[in-house]
Amino acid sequence: MSKIINPFRISIYTNYVNESYFNSIKSEVLHFIKKNKDSLIKSPNWIGDTLTNIDSCKSKTINTPLLSKVIKTEVENYIKTSSSFNPLIKNLSLEDLWVNVAKPNQYQETHDHTGSLISGTLYIDVNNQSGSFQFLNPLNSEFALQGLKGGINYVHNINPSNGMILLFPSWMQHRVLPNKSTKDRISISFNITSKF
Ligand SMILES: [Fe+2]
Repeated sequence: MSKIINPFRISIYTNYVNESYFNSIKSEVLHFIKKNKDSLIKSPNWIGDTLTNIDSCKSKTINTPLLSKVIKTEVENYIKTSSSFNPLIKNLSLEDLWVNVAKPNQYQETHDHTGSLISGTLYIDVNNQSGSFQFLNPLNSEFALQGLKGGINYVHNINPSNGMILLFPSWMQHRVLPNKSTKDRISISFNITSKF
């Protein structure tokens, strides 16, 4: 009897933040951007020209107790429900947290967050023209060997909407497509590390 086995599945997590929490976080983030707009720059480590505070002003953090609480809850839920993570993982730590402001036509190139365990994004102000978040299939090299590069399942798109939180293994390669709307595409991103 023939049998298909799919042993190496990758779990990507999405959820929507509680509306009242999201409204508070959104006003905090928009206030931060307004107050620190001169500190938001194109990162020298990024190819795309999305504006950020990732390198320039770590002391000017956008972190708040509410944001930490929301991220912690969702990360714990991801670990608990995905079965992709060792249940013995502990000492989860929010290592980096930064804002992304992509003006019209700005994008972010393919990259990963290797070195962390889980990475994620919370969408603050986006619309259906803002540009998808795109995962590259880690089996791309196998597809290439089969002459299928660029074929089915080469990428997986996440179409962001306001209040959506997206979590994924930090090693996964991803990019953000150009913002085709006339408004800034605003999100925050973060990295989570852990110790066993
Ligand atoms: Fe990223």
